[in-house]
Amino acid sequence: MAIVTVSVSTIATAARVLRAGALVAFPTETVYGLGADATNARAVAAVFEAKGRPRFNPLIVHVQDAEAAARLGTMSADGQRLAAAFWPGPLTLVLAKRSGCIVAELATAGLDTIAVRVPAHPVAQALLRTANLPIAAPSANRSGHVSPTTAAHVEADLGDRVAMILDGGPAPLGLESTVVDATGAEPVVLRLGAVARDDLARVLGRPIAVAGGEAARPSSPGMLARHYAPRAKLRLGARDVREGEALLAFGAHVPRHAGPMINLSTAGDLIEAAANLFAAVRALDASGAASIAVMPIPERGLGEAINDRLRRAARAA
Ligand code: TXA
Ligand code: MG
Repeated sequence: MAIVTVSVSTIATAARVLRAGALVAFPTETVYGLGADATNARAVAAVFEAKGRPRFNPLIVHVQDAEAAARLGTMSADGQRLAAAFWPGPLTLVLAKRSGCIVAELATAGLDTIAVRVPAHPVAQALLRTANLPIAAPSANRSGHVSPTTAAHVEADLGDRVAMILDGGPAPLGLESTVVDATGAEPVVLRLGAVARDDLARVLGRPIAVAGGEAARPSSPGMLARHYAPRAKLRLGARDVREGEALLAFGAHVPRHAGPMINLSTAGDLIEAAANLFAAVRALDASGAASIAVMPIPERGLGEAINDRLRRAARAA
């Protein structure tokens, strides 16, 4: 049984489990989160694997306070006012990622922004302080299912895929956090949630637009375009390497190649491959090769999300 009652000792165990790279589901005031050490790409890959997400959506990184948030990203003056008013609480702010940010690139899906939240729930707070890590956590449900508001919901959806479920009782709000983009001059709501738009407007002293709404700047539909796009062309499904190409390999049987090469996983492990993906494409792009030959990645498990990302990168070039 993965569900455990919250105590000082189970929080300490959960913190150790997180630090060891395994997954812990925990209550927040909004919904239960599926938590991983945000600095560990492999642990983050395991989150996508457990959820069965067909895409690498960027995750919310949970931190203990605004100072910890400020170490990961920078926000506008309005963002700072919203943080001061609503943290800890059910507000997520999208910040400009700092260079040298310790969060794994997979957690932000290769974006140059990072979504950060300081949860108020005492169990989430205790876990963050004890683990002393930023925790990447999407809602703790299988992809396409509704967000879980009790430990039993998490157990039903993910019971066999998570090391521990901390039972903090029913999530008090039962609605996800409001996501606000605080990177630009004008803050914009990206997802409506537990903090009402009127309450944001009261703090800002003026109305706030919802992305996709009439008044919103057209940045949100362009989210995909803001994903990291390599300069090099990607040649997918490659079984050989051509003159001048770099090689993004997968598995044990790799074509002979003298130039730049990174193997996503010599063992053919898709979780390891997902963990290495963004950094590997970036490094091969930086090698200066005009084209990157990408070996076939099986379309199963996390392979689906890896191939989705590679296909979009290939189209972007
Ligand atoms: O209440 C919540 O927010 C819960 C608890 C566990 O904190 N978490 C949650 O996570 O709902 P998730 O992964 O189900 O939703 C994350 C949302 C998505 O809409 C995603 O697109 C957005 O946050 N997001 C994450 N990073 C982003 C970024 N860098 N830029 C824009 N949107 C981002
Ligand atoms: Mg969700």
